[in-house]
Amino acid sequence: MMFRPLFWEEDKLVLLDQTRLPWEEHWLGLRTWEEVAEAIRSLRVRGAPAIGIAAAYALALAALRPNPGRTPKEEVREAQEALAKTRPTAVNLFWALERMGRVAQAVKESELFPALLSEAQRIHEEDIAANLRIGELGADLLPKNVRVLTICNTGALATGGHGTALGVVRTAFVQGKLKMVYVCETRPVLQGARLTAWELRREGIPFRLLADFAAGLLFRKGEVDAVLVGADRIARNGDFANKVGTYVLAVLAHRHGVPFYAVAPSSSFDLSLPSGEAIPIEERPEEEVLAPYGCRFAPEGTRAWNPAFDLTPGELVSAFVTEKGVIRPPYARTIPEALSG
Ligand code: MRU
Repeated sequence: MMFRPLFWEEDKLVLLDQTRLPWEEHWLGLRTWEEVAEAIRSLRVRGAPAIGIAAAYALALAALRPNPGRTPKEEVREAQEALAKTRPTAVNLFWALERMGRVAQAVKESELFPALLSEAQRIHEEDIAANLRIGELGADLLPKNVRVLTICNTGALATGGHGTALGVVRTAFVQGKLKMVYVCETRPVLQGARLTAWELRREGIPFRLLADFAAGLLFRKGEVDAVLVGADRIARNGDFANKVGTYVLAVLAHRHGVPFYAVAPSSSFDLSLPSGEAIPIEERPEEEVLAPYGCRFAPEGTRAWNPAFDLTPGELVSAFVTEKGVIRPPYARTIPEALSG
């Protein structure tokens, strides 16, 4: 059975609280869209596709339980606006909200909740199907006994299930192709150390965790055959935003002649942006750097800078692996072509 980090049950959204992993597996039952918005903001649910799916279910909750004084349609509009302000970078959030918004506009008030719930479930199922296809296409690109380097968490936890970059790892493991996954711990909030390690351990996939900047030496020693990363928003020319640290890995891969693959569903592309310059980069609270999970590293009074993402130029990307196929340069032509099909 495929592990799903979130699902609809009776009249609520159930999701695994990722801020409490790996220490405890605590499932939340969310009954209002406001609770889902809080879960997105505070990273209880995170990863671009999972954020989009959670927001879609949140709109179903808005239709089911409007606040006093509002019709279900008014509540959905209110929720849509508020959810769009939770996290700015992952385009999947806006893609899902717009898709749900179109359904909300097309149906009568009495059909609003069932229509929105079905659409959210469709978005969820489509994401899983896309990931399984991506897994196959990505694994085909890898040599036998491959040693892969990755960052952040792009697994089942970050998606509807299976994962994107980590989905490729999963598929390659099942195919007997995978020798080792090197996992960057991913400071400051440690999605690699806490979440990717949790997923890989559950499935017995061989991995080593490394401090983020150990990656340089790993390349130098010739221990990396391919880099697989996710993406939060990909512009038309192949520039893309992903977890901070991704750009460093892309530069290292280029320097060492190692293929660098960005792995993402079509819902992570933003064709309205000609280049990455216009991608909004989220800056998160300083406390995440200064005192992650309550452990204060820096002296009192220290200020921090905490961009959650960085920007990798398309020219450093060997290929994008999507459910619509593997996309190779020149991206300004091939990305729009692949996504229109
Ligand atoms: O801040 P996060 O944990 O939401 O960041 C997640 C990432 O950067 C992932 O690489 C990206 O969303 C792709 S997840 C399949």
